[in-house]
Amino acid sequence: MIIKSLELENYRNYKSLKIEFDKGVNILYGDNAQGKTNILESIYVSATARSHKGARDKDIINFDAEEGHIKTLLDKDGLERRVDMHLRRSKSKGVAVDKVRIKKTAELLGILNVVFFSPEDLSIIKNAPAERRKFANMELCQLDQIYLYNLNNYNKIMTQRNNILKEINFRPDYRDMLSIYDSQLISYGKKLIARRHQFCDEMNSILESIHKSLSGNKEVLEMRYAPMVTEDEYEDRLKADTDRDIRYKMTSAGPHRDDFVFLSNGIDLRTYGSQGQQRTAALSLKLSEIELVKRITKDNPVLLLDDVLSELDSNRQTHLLNSIGDIQTIITCTGLDDFVNNRFEYDKVFKVTEGTVRSEN
Ligand SMILES: Nc1ncnc2c1ncn2[C@@H]1O[C@H](COP(=O)(O)OP(=O)(O)O)[C@@H](O)[C@H]1O
Ligand SMILES: [Mg+2]
Repeated sequence: MIIKSLELENYRNYKSLKIEFDKGVNILYGDNAQGKTNILESIYVSATARSHKGARDKDIINFDAEEGHIKTLLDKDGLERRVDMHLRRSKSKGVAVDKVRIKKTAELLGILNVVFFSPEDLSIIKNAPAERRKFANMELCQLDQIYLYNLNNYNKIMTQRNNILKEINFRPDYRDMLSIYDSQLISYGKKLIARRHQFCDEMNSILESIHKSLSGNKEVLEMRYAPMVTEDEYEDRLKADTDRDIRYKMTSAGPHRDDFVFLSNGIDLRTYGSQGQQRTAALSLKLSEIELVKRITKDNPVLLLDDVLSELDSNRQTHLLNSIGDIQTIITCTGLDDFVNNRFEYDKVFKVTEGTVRSEN
């Protein structure tokens, strides 16, 4: 699948923009704060209805406007598809696929699959667990409607449970209500745990060979799920923690505290890996993500590389660019030096300046 064109109206610093992409490698270059990431963000929003930065709709609408639009035209095996989004400050966004309004975000899944790669992803191994959970959630929510549904419900019920925990100090009789929330929380939480186990298995079947070649045959990388509670322990643990939860006014046990551990030749990279090893593992992880999306959707995702090339040494740059193959790729960077110096091939170049984009070839 490829993106043929993107139109933005009152999106971030774009008043009005239309870009026609090449099916191969597209480069958006320009100084800082000109609007390069904003374009990739708008594509991510088209794919998932959410910003990769977690920005709210009212943040991504142009400062001076009440509403904004993102319109993407796709080509899926010769078939044209459209995704239109209407962003509004005070209401939730309107979304249409092929001009037909959809009611649930889940209906958007599978239309446009993207893999987003930003410099922050290179520190995913050493960062806090929340970043690794975000990685798994972002991927699973794109690939699995049921996971998306379970995660949304889990989060909703946890918010309600936490609200009750806050109230219990004033209304001790509310304590009886907890068990209703607990059983729902456990039911959705167990489904998340099971799917995350499966996600690790799926990733590992790809990760090992990619990382072997990236590390020059030296390292065997494994992604291991480290659930905060197992499915079996979950119920007892939630009950045992109730008094503590009331004191802290929040839910302590559950998959919202999960982690993923990365082992290289059996050694935990977060604790013992060098920075170089951690970054190589992070790159392997992103490359595996592309492969996983291909396997599951039986189609190519669109690869969005936000300023990552300048963060990689030439060996890793070459690896990344070589693994693109026939995947449509949109790359942002400040200059074209890396491409020119290393003779990397590209198909289309755009210069981004203060919310305008000019095609240079
Ligand atoms: N809602 C908005 N309305 C107008 N401008 C915005 C909005 N949000 C961000 N910007 C502007 O977008 C610019 C940053 O764009 P970005 O795509 O991150 O730049 P870069 O080219 O460095 O990737 C900043 O100048 C910022 O002020
Ligand atoms: Mg940027």
